[in-house]
Amino acid sequence: MSKPSYDWLNKLPKVELHLHLEGSLEPELMFFLAQRNGIELPYKSVEEIRSAYQFNNLQDFLDIYYQGAEVLQKEQDFYDLTWAYLQKCHSQNVIHVEPFFDPQTHTCRGISFETVINGISHALEDGEKKLGISYQLIMCFLRHLSESDAIETLRSAEKFIDKIHGVGLDSSEKGNPPEKFTRVFAKAIELGFKSVAHAGEEGPAEYIWGAIKELKASRIDHGVRALDDPELVTYLIDEKIPLTVCPLSNTKLCVFRDMSEHTILQMLDLGLKVCVNSDDPAYFGGYMTENFNELAKHLSLSKDQAKMLVINSINASFTDEVRKAELYNSLNSFINS
Ligand code: HPA
Ligand code: ZN
Repeated sequence: MSKPSYDWLNKLPKVELHLHLEGSLEPELMFFLAQRNGIELPYKSVEEIRSAYQFNNLQDFLDIYYQGAEVLQKEQDFYDLTWAYLQKCHSQNVIHVEPFFDPQTHTCRGISFETVINGISHALEDGEKKLGISYQLIMCFLRHLSESDAIETLRSAEKFIDKIHGVGLDSSEKGNPPEKFTRVFAKAIELGFKSVAHAGEEGPAEYIWGAIKELKASRIDHGVRALDDPELVTYLIDEKIPLTVCPLSNTKLCVFRDMSEHTILQMLDLGLKVCVNSDDPAYFGGYMTENFNELAKHLSLSKDQAKMLVINSINASFTDEVRKAELYNSLNSFINS
């Protein structure tokens, strides 16, 4: 098989399992919502916003990301944010998504949980009806906040259990190990939520063990630091634990110096269940197709490898077997066409 073009990668049916809805807030929409809500932004233009997106590490990014999210105030704003992401997915042939949202980023500003979840859910329902994009929604706890904050958030989520499929853990990783949230995740699992967690992005391989053993995470978000621990690599391979890797995010946040140094294809060759995701595409320079294309440009990704990465994401998804069969069929029809 030959090297894939951007157009081929764009048409390739794809599944996204690691995407923060607040991280899909494009500068144009940020400006529009700021105006609609009468908020003054610390930037004069879209160009000025984009040029502020230079990060040395995760915390640099998070500071700007939380500030950007302040324009989200009304249910319609959350709808518009989610709908814009789904339209982008449609244009890139992303046919199933499992996005994250961070309720605490909004409830701590006095926005109700209900406002957030209703806006997001209505857009996801419309996306399924009008664009054919299936979904499972995941609520993340902010790990820099306290356990009791997370418990309160879980309590708010209980009322919307039909709209939320899983819980995750994001924000500042270093110094906030998974163990801080063992009791919250145990309660969430008891309530029927799936468990995932960011681990091994900037934090050590030890945090990946913690996410698996303490939080019972069935997927690890990022997980690129796993390669530091051979015993962990063997465990992840044996247990087929998926890792939702985000290439552009990793280079923008200096987890890797350059895309040519990214280890995702080494991980794939080792038999790790890695897949490709965009994380915060409005901040990191691209959505799903751009992430795949970076691997083609800098790591000589083959069509076979691209197909394997999509198969890994279908296998790792939380959707049911009927939908999974449809996703495999879409992928195979495209590959065989
Ligand atoms: N890591 C941790 N928290 C996040 C990220 C990320 O890449 N994106 C949004 N919140
Ligand atoms: Zn993330």
